[in-house]
Amino acid sequence: MFSKASLLTVVLALLASATPLPTDGGVRIPLEKRGSLTNADGTFNIEKGIHERLKLENKHKQNLINLERNVGQDEFKKMFPDVNTTSFHKRAGLPLTDQEDDIEWTGTISIGTPAQSFVIDFDTGSSDLWVPSSSCSSCKGHKYSSSSSSTSKKQTGTFSISYGDGSTASGSVYTDTVTVAGIKATGQYLSGVTKESSSFASDPADGLLGLAFPAISNLRHNPFFFTAVQQGTAPQGVFAFKLASSGSELYVGGTDSKLYTGDIEYHDVSSSDGFWQIGGGSAILNDKTVASSIDTIIDSGTTLMGSSSKTVESFYSNIEGSSYDEQNGYYTFSCSSVPTVAFNWGGKTWEISASNFNLGEISQGKCAGALVPLDLGMGDNVWLLGDTFMKNVYTAFSVTDNAVGFATLA
Ligand SMILES: *[C@@H]1O[C@H](CO)[C@@H](O)[C@H](O)[C@H]1NC(C)=O
Repeated sequence: MFSKASLLTVVLALLASATPLPTDGGVRIPLEKRGSLTNADGTFNIEKGIHERLKLENKHKQNLINLERNVGQDEFKKMFPDVNTTSFHKRAGLPLTDQEDDIEWTGTISIGTPAQSFVIDFDTGSSDLWVPSSSCSSCKGHKYSSSSSSTSKKQTGTFSISYGDGSTASGSVYTDTVTVAGIKATGQYLSGVTKESSSFASDPADGLLGLAFPAISNLRHNPFFFTAVQQGTAPQGVFAFKLASSGSELYVGGTDSKLYTGDIEYHDVSSSDGFWQIGGGSAILNDKTVASSIDTIIDSGTTLMGSSSKTVESFYSNIEGSSYDEQNGYYTFSCSSVPTVAFNWGGKTWEISASNFNLGEISQGKCAGALVPLDLGMGDNVWLLGDTFMKNVYTAFSVTDNAVGFATLA
């Protein structure tokens, strides 16, 4: 098991090679958007909405379980005194419904020699790479055959994710060559999953590539981009996302200056808990600051935004006529007055468009909001900002400078 000190060493080693924040020089991966929580007629897809909320909760529970194991209980208690990961394992979850298509942004990567291609969900909110294994009979889509790859090496241990609803994804651990748009990592740890929960079986992506820090890795090894930076194959220690209805892209090894205007406003990562988390934020609702000194986790693998029940309740209390739909876990407000929501970290104010905050009509004249209650025990000042926020800005993640930056979309 790696200690917190060794994690720091990784980060410091990367910092030692620090160069000025780059633009361009990297490679682009076109991303395709799959699914939406809003139906074509403007109504909210409740089934998908519930699925998405649960997925968000489960993913971050798993991250906290990984973190506790990786840093040790004592250190974890200092970081999150109110998180009880034992209750995560035991909690009876909501039933999951199979979805025709999930809501995510997918692109292609290759693994092995010769290259095997996979459709991947790129996730800044987790830190492992996994794809279905050729020995998984229940898995759909492209499958990884370790025996067909001359660079594949089986490693000891098992990769496993256990979700709040009791379902799991598990599999063998390998190292192999992984190439993301021409940027290569050799000896990259990954899992070939031999069992998927039913909630994955319908997913349009074959697997997932985590882009967060090693501290939350279930495989306990550097995620792809950290490996690539360490091996010097990424032109710069930065990757960046544009998530939009068209022209979406992940740019690896720099930022794509064609996709944004002005400077990138960078903010230092505020914590060593493994997330792309930045502090000193404010949440702004209809031009009024409703929460300040907040810590925000920027998570491309999540559609929604979430914070503690208390924080979310307080947020919506500022919207006249809003109410909590307990059955579905969403807050609603009048569709004729969608609130203006924005975030600020001491620089520009980054606004979320009404169409991104409003998930659609849920019942007569009432619309569902994209900020949902999420009780993980991480603290009332912690907010998770997913695609609802990221769709409004160009977002850059700098491993070199340990910072997240925002810029105006071109
Ligand atoms: C954590 O959760 C478990 C299971 O729900 C429970 O038995 C235990 O008492 C909890 N621990 C604390 C410190 O609350």
